[in-house]
Amino acid sequence: MTSLSTTGLLDVESIKADFPILSRTVRDGRKLVYLDSGATSQKPRQVLDAERAFYEQHNAAVHRGAHQLAEEATDAYESARQRIAAFVGAPASELVFTRNATESINLVAYAFSNATDKARQGVALPEATKRFVIGPGDEVLVTEMEHHANLVPWQELCLKTGATLRWLGLSDEGRLDLDALSSLLTERTKVVSVVHQSNILGTVNPVQEIARAAHAVGALVLVDACQSVPHMPLNVNELGADLVAWSGHKMLGPTGIGCLWGRAEVLDSMPPFLTGGSMIETVFMEGSTYAPPPQRFEAGVPMAAQAIGLAAAVDYLQAVGMPAIAAHEHALTQAAVASLVAIPGVRIIGPATTIDRGSALSFVVDGVHPHDVGQILDSLGIAVRVGHHCAWPVCRRYGVPATTRATFYLYNGLDDVIALTEGVHEVRRFWGVS
Ligand code: ALA
Repeated sequence: MTSLSTTGLLDVESIKADFPILSRTVRDGRKLVYLDSGATSQKPRQVLDAERAFYEQHNAAVHRGAHQLAEEATDAYESARQRIAAFVGAPASELVFTRNATESINLVAYAFSNATDKARQGVALPEATKRFVIGPGDEVLVTEMEHHANLVPWQELCLKTGATLRWLGLSDEGRLDLDALSSLLTERTKVVSVVHQSNILGTVNPVQEIARAAHAVGALVLVDACQSVPHMPLNVNELGADLVAWSGHKMLGPTGIGCLWGRAEVLDSMPPFLTGGSMIETVFMEGSTYAPPPQRFEAGVPMAAQAIGLAAAVDYLQAVGMPAIAAHEHALTQAAVASLVAIPGVRIIGPATTIDRGSALSFVVDGVHPHDVGQILDSLGIAVRVGHHCAWPVCRRYGVPATTRATFYLYNGLDDVIALTEGVHEVRRFWGVS
């Protein structure tokens, strides 16, 4: 498998050969320059083959049925759980499969909501579950750089329970204002939910430091690791959080599969989100009891093919090596930052450095709307994302309606950085701002 060359870059050509879509052309025969992996990554043949093999050879509903196919499907699904959990340094029992990170975060927010409803109804809750009861006077702490997926569920929770939402603001450079952390964290803080790498700014936040401070006041800590698990070596135990959420489709896996890791004692005490088949222990007409985690959080027939596809993605990433992938992206980001800041009228929204930042690189071009930037880049075969990137408050904070965002992954090379740079020059020429 590919390893880093002396330039710090991966052998991109051999990696690209594994991704069928990367050999297609777009816009009348132009080479595809895919710089939108922050939105969703492309899939290697190994992942496509794993899903196909499951459907062709083993398909059955897992955790049900007494036949051979059901047994094989269940084994494949649980083996996927074990491999994906090991990828982030966790035991399989601490990994819950969801549909995506949005669902993982909602699962936790609804655990609070449901525990609070039950407490209001006078239901006796286990002592450990009482930490999920929240109400007026309690607080939820997020940051101003959250993706809507890690903001709106908490806004909803506060609306329903009367708790107060607070947030850490941002510096002009695109970093968290950590000076405010000690005054925002109090014994009223029940939960702190923070993004690891911002999907719009690229900033990598010091989540260990935030988790330590949050735990000192007794708060639960959830980390949105959507843009970090795919891009850097990550051990959930070293992160210091209680819960970590991420999506499979941003890390070479299929859509429709996400993950929630939780420390065993935290998952044990969490009320379920979705209820129904598979997540129960006993069911009577008068009421039901629930299975232990992770099954308690996996109601219904699960996404077996997608989990198996994600496990194949994890195998692929491990074979290339996460440290090598992180170093590769770092080198590309360094080159892209240097080239973009050298173009007159181009401003990076987020840290204009490679220190504590990942490869999500947002920028604006003076005098050209980001959508028009994206349109010209697209006409050249360059796929980027434009808009507010589901992080609208960030755009407001930096006084821009939207940004153009390029993101790099293991299948991008320096030629893609050059294409982007030349594309931005063409944008300025086309719109007459050069
Ligand atoms: N959350 C994805 C992004 O940042 C869709 O583009």
